[in-house]
Amino acid sequence: MDPSLQTGGQQGRILVVDDDHRKLRLFDAYLGPLDYRIIKAATGEEAIKSVREHDPDLVILDLLLPGMDGVEVCRLIRLNPSHRFVPILMVTALQDTEVKVRALEAGADDFINHPLNSAELRARVKSLLRIREMHERIVHSERLSALGELAAAAAHEIRNPLATIRACAEVLQLRKQLDKPNTLQTMVSEIDHLNGIVERMLLLSRPAGLNLELVDLRESLEQAALSANLAVRAGLTVTRAYDPAPAQVRGDRSRLKQVYLNLVLNAVEAMPSGGELRLFTGRNQSGRMVYAGVADQGCGIPPERLGRIFEAFYTTKERGTGLGLAICKRIVQDHNGKIEIQSTPGSGTTIRVLLPEA
Ligand SMILES: Nc1ncnc2c1ncn2[C@@H]1O[C@H](COP(=O)(O)OP(=O)(O)OP(=O)(O)O)[C@@H](O)[C@H]1O
Ligand SMILES: [Mg+2]
Repeated sequence: MDPSLQTGGQQGRILVVDDDHRKLRLFDAYLGPLDYRIIKAATGEEAIKSVREHDPDLVILDLLLPGMDGVEVCRLIRLNPSHRFVPILMVTALQDTEVKVRALEAGADDFINHPLNSAELRARVKSLLRIREMHERIVHSERLSALGELAAAAAHEIRNPLATIRACAEVLQLRKQLDKPNTLQTMVSEIDHLNGIVERMLLLSRPAGLNLELVDLRESLEQAALSANLAVRAGLTVTRAYDPAPAQVRGDRSRLKQVYLNLVLNAVEAMPSGGELRLFTGRNQSGRMVYAGVADQGCGIPPERLGRIFEAFYTTKERGTGLGLAICKRIVQDHNGKIEIQSTPGSGTTIRVLLPEA
């Protein structure tokens, strides 16, 4: 789970492992109202399988399971490098320090005593999920910074030869010296595509260096709509639902426009046969954040893909670079904001960017 990417209102997936069905129901009662998705397993074997299938954000594990006990389950979960850092909360009725030490050595992160106290359970769950979030942020930013270094080096190497090849292809195309002008057209368009990747990789690789000023997010949205030629796109109806108050932030005008341009283009691309594209702004309940976003009636994003769409180079489009949302995420994080997505496959996607109000 990533703090800047809360999706579908869900706060995280929690796997609860316990052979006692009454206790499982208790977990449901205590944690369900907090909007966590609870996955259940009754044995150690089921737990291992479920961790692999559901990639939970937290595992709550009873120490005393029939057959394979909690310590062993813990050890086996940790053997898989992908789950080395998923937090594990052990439930125990024992005061036995020796068992607790073994559990810690096997990779448990925290303990809670049975019978459960609901307030304590919620507090421990929140704290472990917070640690999970921090870990994911670090991993993501390390990945981005590695990508950044690579991108900067690769992009500089690629850009100049690309420009030369493109210019040559254009000259040939103009002189119509080849019998297959389509080949040249393809070359030019492939080069443009590569150029797009290079430009975007460079954007991702640059340090933030924000040029902060007062920006109204309505203006960013409108500029994005203009650059995306929304007004002249066939079959597209653009509606606006702007809060009467300006959505003002301290931010980098051109980068914020870029965020919204990426969102608007994604929305347009999600509706190849047209539909309604809604631009909106507002202020959230607590009042210290303002937001602006884009809603479409396009294909939507299946839940299993939601976790990947912010990854650099993740794309489902034939001509996509898969860098649009990675760039959005980077810019929004640099502005201390967050991105929220609601998406229903077949009926559309709403994405909003929340930023601290100026
Ligand atoms: N509004 C949307 N509706 C449906 N799917 C979307 C939407 N926005 C993003 N996606 C999905 O997320 C993926 C990643 O989006 P992203 O903007 O990062 O890359 P891209 O649009 O594929 O390529 P690029 O933006 O570089 O041209 C898309 O390929 C698409 O599958
Ligand atoms: Mg895109």
